[in-house]
Amino acid sequence: MSAPTHLDLFSGAGLFSAGLVQAGFEPVLAVELGAEAVASYRRNVSRCAVHGSVADFRGAPKVDVVIAGPPCQGFSTLGRRDPTDVRNALGLLILPWVRAADPSLVVIENVPPFLRSPQWRELAAGLRELGYADVVTWELDALDFGVPQRRRRAFTVASRLGPVAQPAPTTATPRTASSALFAPGLDKADPMHVWPTPKGIAADRIALIPPLGDKRDLLRGHPHLCPPSWSKIADQATDVWGRIDPDKPSNTVRCNFQNPSKGRYLHPTENRTLSLREGARLQGVPDSWCFEGKPLPAARQIGNGVPIPMAHAVGESLRAALAGMGVTALAA
Ligand SMILES: C[S@@+](CC[C@H](N)C(=O)[O-])C[C@H]1O[C@@H](n2cnc3c(N)ncnc32)[C@H](O)[C@@H]1O
Repeated sequence: MSAPTHLDLFSGAGLFSAGLVQAGFEPVLAVELGAEAVASYRRNVSRCAVHGSVADFRGAPKVDVVIAGPPCQGFSTLGRRDPTDVRNALGLLILPWVRAADPSLVVIENVPPFLRSPQWRELAAGLRELGYADVVTWELDALDFGVPQRRRRAFTVASRLGPVAQPAPTTATPRTASSALFAPGLDKADPMHVWPTPKGIAADRIALIPPLGDKRDLLRGHPHLCPPSWSKIADQATDVWGRIDPDKPSNTVRCNFQNPSKGRYLHPTENRTLSLREGARLQGVPDSWCFEGKPLPAARQIGNGVPIPMAHAVGESLRAALAGMGVTALAA
């Protein structure tokens, strides 16, 4: 029996694809602009990844499912939400691929504000024109799927098979950050268990931030280490220079999770940010994975990804929809 197949556009390092592989899918083509991300995909997921732009459409293989994760910076609540950001239109580039690949299902992952954008409306209309009568959206949180991280993501599911059942949570009790950060196996010999060594004033600040603390502790107790701008926005961006609470799921792991000025990314007890391996663990990536490239591109690949257990749950829903309609010969 052959496995159902998928095509991954804007594939990054392949976390979304890896979840589908766990659900029994076989990736046949992944297209990604970042050379390091392509190398990571080829190393950890499948040799089918190619380096190129989704804008350069040159034909596509027939598949059961197309998945896509177009860049979300233009829509993110953290970005400037610039409606003229050219990245906002990238999602529309998937339409020629869908037309050629002729899948039964299409799934596009992005941040929830994408669903309220004109680009989403245009994309949904384009998918309906291609024959996908059912275009529904799911807003899922990774912590409902065994990921030790709060991460809300929007999935747009276009179907020619009738409605696809939204994945039900796989856990009632969210995993804590400590289940990833204090689990055995973190090894100095692991090339991914690395973090930027804090220097100068950054090192001084980090050393003074108590467990669960953040920049407000510095403002209260050590104002000489704080720039004047911090007092002006004291009650905003309270998570920056924050230590992760080990007893709760972590905040959303973003591309800059090794920069303490960008969020609550300090280790709960050690005077440093997270290592690449720890960030990957919070994304549900197995320790057997290695990300290619220097630390900055590697962190970007990690922070960009769909947490693998959440992607797995999405994949199970897709597979059930395909099996229900007998569209493909599913592996036992
Ligand atoms: C949100 S990430 C995708 C993450 C991926 N779904 C995963 O789970 O690992 C978006 C990716 O789109 C890539 N990208 C941006 N513009 C592109 C283009 N024109 N063609 C192909 N990939 C592009 C970026 O390099 C980035 O890796």
